Amino acid sequence: MNLQKSCHRHGTSGDAPRTTGPLALLALAGALAAVLSLGGCAVEREPNYEFLPWLNSMFFSSAAEPYAPAPINAKTGKPVFANGRVAQLPPAGTVPRGFAPLHFSNDEAGRETAGRELVQPFEATPENLARGAWGFATFCAPCHANNGSGAGLVALKAGWNFPIGFTDNNAARMPDGMVFHIMSYGRVNMPAYASQVSQADRWKILLHLRQLQQQNGATPGAVAAPAAATPAAAGG
Ligand code: HEC
Repeated sequence: MNLQKSCHRHGTSGDAPRTTGPLALLALAGALAAVLSLGGCAVEREPNYEFLPWLNSMFFSSAAEPYAPAPINAKTGKPVFANGRVAQLPPAGTVPRGFAPLHFSNDEAGRETAGRELVQPFEATPENLARGAWGFATFCAPCHANNGSGAGLVALKAGWNFPIGFTDNNAARMPDGMVFHIMSYGRVNMPAYASQVSQADRWKILLHLRQLQQQNGATPGAVAAPAAATPAAAGG
């Protein structure tokens, strides 16, 4: 047995009757049962028994700082990671759970492909629209304005003359996937939002954008028409 610590049951230690003969055997059996039931032995102020202490590296692994040099393996004398670092890169091709990578080129051809292949996965429920409105106000309105007119504060202050109104230009006719591509990869002076806005939020922002267009008399329904994905409709 490799029991390094004794475990005291509250109020019971030292109470064992001093007996001999069969009674002693009985006491021994009782003690054995107590040992076997150690799992339930609650010591509130100290660590419990350490069973098989040579395995303790499993239970008490030494902490390593992510950006410090990797600790040395006592057996091999070498760093625990071959490259000597603690923080390791994930294996090539690793994708975070729930994350779907996009494989489009960042050019007009990629935007058109996205326009043909990607489908809005969310319904325009009040909840999704509210989330989209929040995302739009946070990430898009600074340039495109709350109403999507394109006269956002950034554009106004910078004095840029961006063709970025959503309601009176070709954005309303763009297929969903193409707008999603622009949000994800950016376009010309518009930065990419893939690293700041999750894919789900980008789609919900698009729901809000479509609503804005409808409210402004545009007919974003046309976006679903296959003709909208042709290069002629893609515009600049
Ligand atoms: C930093 C300013 C800025 C922000 C923030 C921004 N955009 Fe843009 N956006 C632009 C500019 C500039 C263009 C025009 C790009 C070009 O000339 O190709 C543009 C173009 C677009 C277009 C194409 C419009 C068309 O008719 O061709 C869409 C769609 C669009 N943005 C959506 C969004 C959405 C959705 C967001 C929020 C996630 C967003 N943008 C955030 C600057 C911005």
